[in-house]
Amino acid sequence: MSTDELAGVHPAWLPPAAFRAIAARRVAVHGTGTLVDTVRAEVGATVDEDAELVLRVTGEVGALGEEGFELYRRDGVTVVLAGAPAGLLYGFFHVVRLGEAAFTGERPVERHLPAMRRRMLDHWDNVAVNPVMGQVERGYSGGSIFWRDGAQCDLARVRAYGRLLAATGVNAITINNVNVQAAAARLLTDRLGEVAAVAGVLRPYGIRVHLSVNFAAPVMLGGLPTADPLDEGVRAWWAETTRRVYEAIPDFGGYVVKADSEGQPGPFGYGRDHADGANVLADALAPFGGVVHWRAFVYNHRQDWRDRSTDRARAAYDHFAPLDGKFRDNAILQVKYGPIDFQTREPISPVIAAMPATNVAVELQVTQEYTGQQRHACYLGPMWSEVLGFPLTPDRDVAGLAKELIAVSNVGDDRFWTGHPLAQANLYAFGRFAWDPSLDPLSILDEWIDLALGPDVDRAALHAILDDSWRTYESYTAPLGVGFMVRPGHHYGPDVDGYEYTPWGTYHFADRDGVGVDRTRATGTGFTGQYPRPWSDVYESLERCPDELLLFFHHVPYGHVLHSGSTVIQHIYDTHFAGAERTVEMRRLWERLAGQVDADLDARVRERLDEQVRSAAEWRDQINTYFYRKSGVPDEKGRTIY
Ligand code: GCU
Repeated sequence: MSTDELAGVHPAWLPPAAFRAIAARRVAVHGTGTLVDTVRAEVGATVDEDAELVLRVTGEVGALGEEGFELYRRDGVTVVLAGAPAGLLYGFFHVVRLGEAAFTGERPVERHLPAMRRRMLDHWDNVAVNPVMGQVERGYSGGSIFWRDGAQCDLARVRAYGRLLAATGVNAITINNVNVQAAAARLLTDRLGEVAAVAGVLRPYGIRVHLSVNFAAPVMLGGLPTADPLDEGVRAWWAETTRRVYEAIPDFGGYVVKADSEGQPGPFGYGRDHADGANVLADALAPFGGVVHWRAFVYNHRQDWRDRSTDRARAAYDHFAPLDGKFRDNAILQVKYGPIDFQTREPISPVIAAMPATNVAVELQVTQEYTGQQRHACYLGPMWSEVLGFPLTPDRDVAGLAKELIAVSNVGDDRFWTGHPLAQANLYAFGRFAWDPSLDPLSILDEWIDLALGPDVDRAALHAILDDSWRTYESYTAPLGVGFMVRPGHHYGPDVDGYEYTPWGTYHFADRDGVGVDRTRATGTGFTGQYPRPWSDVYESLERCPDELLLFFHHVPYGHVLHSGSTVIQHIYDTHFAGAERTVEMRRLWERLAGQVDADLDARVRERLDEQVRSAAEWRDQINTYFYRKSGVPDEKGRTIY
C-alpha cells in the first residue's frame, strides 16, 4: 500500500509499533472472504499449528451477528471467534488495541457487539472547489482525500483511511458534501465510476460508500421538468438511476439528503412534506437493500431578526415530529445532537425523543467548525459521552434512542490527517463511541495515546492538556450555552454581535440589563415544550435549569445568581480569565513532550498551541469587554477589561 501518496503521511493510530505484540507471535487465521483476507494480509505469515493467536470465523452468524466477536485466552492461546468476516476484522483490531495485554494471563470469554448498526462518517468534500467554502466545507486539514483540482485523487490515501477507520469500528462513509453542487451531483450518473473506485478500495475494510445527492437531480441531471416526489416520472427516474448505481456498486450504502435547508432544493418547493421527499428515494433504494439518510437540519435561514416569535431551535421538531411513522423502514432521519448547529454547548435535540416510529440517527461534528477549527486542542470525547448518555426520556438515553451514530469527518490530505495532530483523538473516539457509547472518554484517549504516540510518552501531560480541553474551550467562548458569538461566515474567533442582526436565527439578545434567549412556554418561544418530562419542566424553570444551559433557555439580568453562587456577569469574567489562563498552561504542559514525539508533530502542535493561546486571549478580551460595556458592572477582582 505504501506509495508516493503516503510518503511522509503520519500513521495515526496504526504505526508499525502498534502491531509489535502480534508480529512477535504465531497466528492462525481461519475463514474465507474479502475481510478475512484483509486480516490475513495484516497478520503477514500465518501458521496452521501451535498458534498463540487464533482468529476464526465460525461460519454461523448466531448471536454475534455480522460484526460481533468473542475474545478469550486459555492455555496460552488467545482466541478471537467471529460469526462473519466483518466481526473477525473488528476482533483483530481489538487485539491490536490490547497489544501485549492480549497475550498475558487467562481471559474469560468477552463478547463484543456494536451498539449502533451503522457507524458513519460524512465528508463535506466538494468535487469542484467551491469559491466560498473551498475544497472541503468546514475542513481544517488541507484538501480532500477524494478529489483534487476537480478530479479523483490517487486512492492510496483513501485506502489508508479505510484501514484507520476499520480499526475504530466505522463501517460507512459518505464521500461528498451535503451541499451538492453541479459537479458533485454527477457522481450519481456519469461520474459514478469515481464512487465505484472509492467503494472498491474501502470494501476490504468493511466500509460501505454512501453518496450525498441533490433533491433536484431529476431536473439537474435527468432533464425532467420537475423533482416533485409524487410525480410518476420523478419516481421512475430515481428508480432507474438507483438501479444503475447498484449495477456498478452492488454493496452501495445509499443516499444522504439535505433538503429545504440553507438554500438546497427540497419537497417544500413542490408543496410536499419531508416524508414524501424521503420516501421516493427510500423506494428507489429498497430493492437493493440501500437506505436514505434524510437530514432534519431544516430551518428558516432568512429570518427577520426583529421577529422574536420565530425560534430556530424549534424548527426541526416543528417540521418532523408530525411526520413520525410516515417514513419508510429504510429511511433514517439524521438529527444533529442539538437543536441549533453543533455548538460547544447545546441541550439535546428534542427530535431524538419525538419520533419513536422513525429510525433516528444522531449526528455529531468531528470537524471542529465551532470548537476551534483544529487550531485549538479540544478533545470532544467528554462532550459526546455526555450527549450519548443523556437520559432524554425516562427509560432511555440518547444512545438508546438512536439507531445509528454519524459524524462529519475532520480528515483532509494533511500529513497528520487532521491538521492538529491531537485532533486525531477525536476521529478515533468517534468510532469507538459509535461501537460502544458507554466507553469512558478518558480511556479512549489512553488507547489513542498508546497507539499513535506510543506507551512511553508523558501520558499525564497529555491528559492534563486534553481531558478538560472541551470545557476549557467552552469557558473562553460563548457563555452559559448561549452559543455562536463567532465571526460570521468562517466561524473562527470572536464576534459577539456578528450574527445578532442577521437572518440566521442565532441571537443572544444582550442589552444593558441582561442576556439570553427566552425559550420558555410561559413568556418565550415555547421551545421547552418540545421536551419530554422531566426536561420540559427542568428547562422551563429558572431555578432548575442547569447553569451551563441557562442562557439557551432564559433571558436573565446580569446580577442573576447561578447555582454556582456566582452572578452571570461575574461568571462570564471569571470563566474567560480562567479559560485563557488555562491555554497558557496547556502550552507549558506540551513542553514535557519535547523529544518524546516526532519533531514534525511537535512543531505542528506547538504552532497550534501558540495560536490557541493568542485566540483564547482575544476571546476573553472581546467577550469581557463587550459585557462590561453593556452592563457597566465591574469585575469584582479588578482585572483588566478594555
Ligand atoms: C452548518 C455549517 C454548514 C453546513 C451545515 C449543514 O451550518 O456551517 O457549512 O452546510 O451546517 O450541516 O448542512
